Amino acid sequence: MTDSVLGVIVREKGAPVEVTTILVPEPGPGEALVRVQACGVCHTDLHYKQGGIGDDFPYFLGHEAAGMVEAVGDDVTDVAPGDFVVLNWRAVCGQCRACRRGRPWYCFSTHNAKQKMTLTDGTPLIPALGIGAFAEKTLVASGQCTKVHPAARPEVAGLLGCGVMAGLGATLNTGQVGRGDSVAVIGCGGVGNAAVLGASLAGAARIIAVDVDDRKLEWARQFGATDVVNSRAADPVERIRELTGGFGADVVIEAVGRPETYQQAFYARDLAGIVVLVGVPTPDMRLDLPLLDVFGRGGALKSSWYGDCLPARDFPMLIDLHLGGRLPLDKFVSETISLGDVEKAFGKMERGEVLRSVVVF
Ligand SMILES: NC(=O)c1ccc[n+]([C@@H]2O[C@H](COP(=O)([O-])OP(=O)(O)OC[C@H]3O[C@@H](n4cnc5c(N)ncnc54)[C@H](O)[C@@H]3O)[C@@H](O)[C@H]2O)c1
Ligand SMILES: [Zn+2]
Ligand SMILES: [Zn+2]
Repeated sequence: MTDSVLGVIVREKGAPVEVTTILVPEPGPGEALVRVQACGVCHTDLHYKQGGIGDDFPYFLGHEAAGMVEAVGDDVTDVAPGDFVVLNWRAVCGQCRACRRGRPWYCFSTHNAKQKMTLTDGTPLIPALGIGAFAEKTLVASGQCTKVHPAARPEVAGLLGCGVMAGLGATLNTGQVGRGDSVAVIGCGGVGNAAVLGASLAGAARIIAVDVDDRKLEWARQFGATDVVNSRAADPVERIRELTGGFGADVVIEAVGRPETYQQAFYARDLAGIVVLVGVPTPDMRLDLPLLDVFGRGGALKSSWYGDCLPARDFPMLIDLHLGGRLPLDKFVSETISLGDVEKAFGKMERGEVLRSVVVF
């Protein structure tokens, strides 16, 4: 039976989002129907709305979610009705070239795979990151459901589904931050502050948080930043070098997604240091760097999609750390809101008032 539920869509570039009725078919082979309990508002949803991701409107927004599996397709054995799951946008397939080469964090098999949900007039919806979870129910590939300990609050657990995992993984997985390292994080929204927290968990000795907003820097201190730099008031490259004995940081995380902040990251790292780009640029952005500096400074220039995470490996482990009191994921939840408040939440995000607004059902 097809379900009619309320969900948040955006019809055209830059238009305000709207709550409307969405038709969610019952799960077929390899699929799961999930009753969404919470879904965070991520900057990537805003990118979709602004046309920064593509032009395939209407988009069905929301992708940072946790919920309860309600029904599964006939052949599904990995999850069952009643399971508490975090939705992921990387259901590792085990079959594709990346998986077969032992690099499953590059698996994109289910990315944007689900296009079965529609408006009541039959218009197909493109779900954000193949999920679409600003809705009471959504249909995903069963591999997009990762079981975690049910004691975790949905509004907290769901954050691992995107931004917080992206930030934690940018330091823990992509940047391979180790004990005693120096780390700088440029841009301390939900993603950047998760990178600060990841650096702290990994045992980094110096963690320098950079933002243009003092509120974000205040939060960064709570997540483990040892130093903060407001880059409106001081040159972040100079400050990071000063704070690291003149060298620059071992690992610099760029969590804004702009050419100028990428350049700062590039020059704020130590010789042979690592830059990790986790912020998502828009198609018009260009980078202009002296090639000699790319050569001469050595090291690694990496980007990190979803923190190079493996959901089945990382989500349960991070939830267990959280439940054990060692990972304060709840501090990312600035407010809980209802489905009709997503547009307002984008405004708060743009004004820097929140780390995460989370829709709860
Ligand atoms: N790579 C991934 O897998 C992945 C996953 C989720 C989100 N993202 C991307 O990460 C980025 C951050 O997402 P978010 O949810 O934390 O957004 P956010 O809006 O909460 O945070 C962005 C932060 O950057 C700061 N900022 C803006 N301009 C700056 C500048 N010039 N210098 C320093 N700081 C500046 C803002 O004050 C804000 O604190 C976005 O581009 C988002 O699309 C990437
Ligand atoms: Zn694969
Ligand atoms: Zn996201």
